[in-house]
Amino acid sequence: MNARIGPAHETDIPQLLSLNNRYSAAGLTLARTPDFAANHVQDYRVLRDAQGGIIGCVALDEYSPSVAELISLAVDEDLHGSGYGRQLIAAAVELATSRGYSDLFAVSYSDELFLSCGFARVPLGTYPEKISRYAKNQSEIEVGEKHCFAMRLAGR
Ligand SMILES: CC(C)(COP(=O)(O)OP(=O)(O)OC[C@H]1O[C@@H](n2cnc3c(N)ncnc32)[C@H](O)[C@@H]1OP(=O)(O)O)[C@@H](O)C(=O)NCCC(=O)NCCS
Repeated sequence: MNARIGPAHETDIPQLLSLNNRYSAAGLTLARTPDFAANHVQDYRVLRDAQGGIIGCVALDEYSPSVAELISLAVDEDLHGSGYGRQLIAAAVELATSRGYSDLFAVSYSDELFLSCGFARVPLGTYPEKISRYAKNQSEIEVGEKHCFAMRLAGR
């Protein structure tokens, strides 16, 4: 398939949310609202099919000028296992690097995927900001099998 990764636009928000939120009932992604996506549209990278439809997405959520979380990683279920997840993670790393973050982290069940993309497993307590930001959303931080992965970037 002729798919390409690029920035997202405001008109993409309904498709972005549809893709991200279809995995939230299972706890794989955190459900996002239209307001969240509108405020972060410049933080997404999306994978488009030949017609421009969104078949994958990933985003950055900033915690401080040096720390960001990789969030909303999702690929259309018909295309899993085609290498797109790995490409989206690489696009998020590239975006985070270009913005000068020194730390990029993710909280995920997909251990093999993040480890094979150059992340290292770290204790969630490495990022107390994550715990406090999601203190009201217990499902995100209390899921036993989810692990925290981090990558050191060049930073500024
Ligand atoms: C996680 C997700 C984004 C991965 O996307 P993907 O396009 O399937 O990933 P890739 O094809 O790049 O696969 C990367 C690795 O993941 C593993 N993998 C991906 N899909 C798999 C599947 N269906 N079954 C088994 N392993 C799989 C493979 O080990 C692969 O490694 P390899 O390149 O050595 O074969 C996708 O499965 C998804 O959308 N899942 C639901 C949402 C989710 O869990 N998001 C993660 C939030 S952090």
